[in-house]
Amino acid sequence: MWMRRWARSLALLVPLAAAAATAQAPPRVSSPDGRNVVTVAIRDGRLTYALDRDGRALLLPSLLGFAFRGAPPLRDSLQVTDTARQTVDDTWTQPWGEVARVRDHHNELRVSVAETAAPPAGRRFTVVFRVFDDGVGFRYEVPAQPGLGEFEISDELTEFALADDARAWWIPSNRPRLDRSEMLFSSSPVSVLDSVQTPLTMETRDGRTFIVIHEANLVDYARMFLAGARMQDRTLRAALAPYADGVKVRGRTPFVTPWRTIQLADRATDLAPSVLGLNLNPPSVIPNTSWIKPMKYVGIWWGMHIGTMTWSSGPRHGATTANAKRYIDFAAANGLGGVLVEGWNVGWDGDWIQNRNAFSFTQAYPDYDLAEVARYAHAKGVKLIVHNETSGGIENYERQMDSAFALYHSLGLDAIKSGYVTDLISTGDSHYGQVMARHYRRVIETAAKYGIMLDVHEPMHDTGERRTYPNMMSREGARGQEYNAWSSEGGNPPEHETILFFTRLLDGPMDFTPGIFDILITRGTGRPRRPDEPRVRTTLAKQLALYVVLYSPLQMAADLPENYEHQPAFQFIRDVAVDWDTTRVLAGKIGDYVVVARRERNGPSWFVGAITDEERRSFDITLSFLSPGRAYVAEIYADGPGADWLTNPLPVAISRQRVTAATRLHIALAPGGGQAIRIRPAR
Ligand code: NOJ
Ligand code: CA
Repeated sequence: MWMRRWARSLALLVPLAAAAATAQAPPRVSSPDGRNVVTVAIRDGRLTYALDRDGRALLLPSLLGFAFRGAPPLRDSLQVTDTARQTVDDTWTQPWGEVARVRDHHNELRVSVAETAAPPAGRRFTVVFRVFDDGVGFRYEVPAQPGLGEFEISDELTEFALADDARAWWIPSNRPRLDRSEMLFSSSPVSVLDSVQTPLTMETRDGRTFIVIHEANLVDYARMFLAGARMQDRTLRAALAPYADGVKVRGRTPFVTPWRTIQLADRATDLAPSVLGLNLNPPSVIPNTSWIKPMKYVGIWWGMHIGTMTWSSGPRHGATTANAKRYIDFAAANGLGGVLVEGWNVGWDGDWIQNRNAFSFTQAYPDYDLAEVARYAHAKGVKLIVHNETSGGIENYERQMDSAFALYHSLGLDAIKSGYVTDLISTGDSHYGQVMARHYRRVIETAAKYGIMLDVHEPMHDTGERRTYPNMMSREGARGQEYNAWSSEGGNPPEHETILFFTRLLDGPMDFTPGIFDILITRGTGRPRRPDEPRVRTTLAKQLALYVVLYSPLQMAADLPENYEHQPAFQFIRDVAVDWDTTRVLAGKIGDYVVVARRERNGPSWFVGAITDEERRSFDITLSFLSPGRAYVAEIYADGPGADWLTNPLPVAISRQRVTAATRLHIALAPGGGQAIRIRPAR
């Protein structure tokens, strides 16, 4: 419904210059800086687009169109019937984000085509291209028409025919019984890809261009994966997540698809912060966003993952009123904004992944007094984050959603962490299909109605929803810290976060949940875990650096409060900002290292985070981003003497140094290490 409104408003746009369609000159559109050029052409009756950068082919002519169940494909005997162009140059402000101001500067080309032959002849659609300096977005718009009303899309025929056998960093999309995104990344040439998730980050073999394929504004459609042809073919094809019966998308005209996006950069360090997808989403529909606030939080959470507490009822039940108050006291004493409580509601006993219909989202276990905890949190100035695990029980959740959100609202609760741990959702459809796209949108809209911020685990991937609904704050959607507690492979390898930064984090914020100080997970288990057991595979300083590197407006201090006591390094977590005015990636190589500097929103302080994989590394960074002539103090949390993620992860060396914009700082990282720096004005 929402999408149709958008389609209508687009139809009202008056093209600045309508070009007469000619068969001879292929329509072309270039980015404002002239470097990126999209060329549209009809080849053997089929519509294609190609993409060049600096005169060099990145995408060879690539097919556009649809296959339907019960109707011939919309692909053949096409001719261009019209083209229209416009230029937009607009700058807008995010209520919160990795950067405050975003420029939307693009040239748009609309190419309308119609079938000339083959029954039911005369069907038509438009492809809209928006070409920015940082990439391209395009989408299909299919108007209402006699030959195309209700439809069932069996395949979207969109191709991305890479000119180069670029190196890709990927996670698979076709693992049976693992219909989610919590996997370790692999890297290989495009020509050997089978079926992968987006965002898909690639580097051309000559290292000149980084290409990221993803999508934007997924509203009422299936999520897009990319399928390779396996046999030394460099063409990736859109592969939509299916319904149980194999159909991909059901709808009726008029409709628009999500944008297919191709982000471009000369260097890996230019990929973030990525705003292409945000620019392709409609502006905020929430008039007053003052209640939407980034925050740090602690939670009754890690204890369940390391096995010292339970979600279910019983002697080790984590979500008790007393325990919640203890966490609230801790948050209040340390200036952390929120407390998450998992396992508070009835439904966790037994196999909670299978028993998804047993979850109540309003009824608490007897040892947890929701209203009292809410009152206590409010009195202490802390936000209570309500947990809603659905286990993929979509109908069960939707049935209760309105009354549950109304209850939370009546108790003054305005943040939810939800979860969708499952392999197949309760309707039998893909976790990533149209049913779920609709579901997630319904949740976002209902949450907005009740003034609730969202942090979604096992989510649909981020396609820029936060621009339209700034209450859609953070998600998981990748392998997070939790794997270090229990994964059978022993935890995330040291390179993991250096890949996440250049892949998953390009689509949006991630609730990775950093900040585990008890790296060897000694507490509760009675002895340090062995290297082959699940444990955190970083140094402690790297856990701090992740607060700056892995962006999230909801940033957890994930460890048990008792593990932060008497830890001088905890001061960094107290101090670090969660909302940014400016972000600069100072150095980075995918899978090896990254150094990020960010300036806090509405304040003068900068924060620097540097992380490495299992290699020891050092950098000299200039602080030229600081205000010239101003004196600052850098508070440095570095890997201490002999630190090493494997053998000696805990030493942190904390030091202070006066710095200015002219200072060069030497940053030394231990194997699997990191460094976190707060740079505040000198008093
Ligand atoms: C998986 C989530 O990622 C995790 O944070 C949560 O604790 C469990 N599901 C239980 O909901
Ligand atoms: Ca998860």
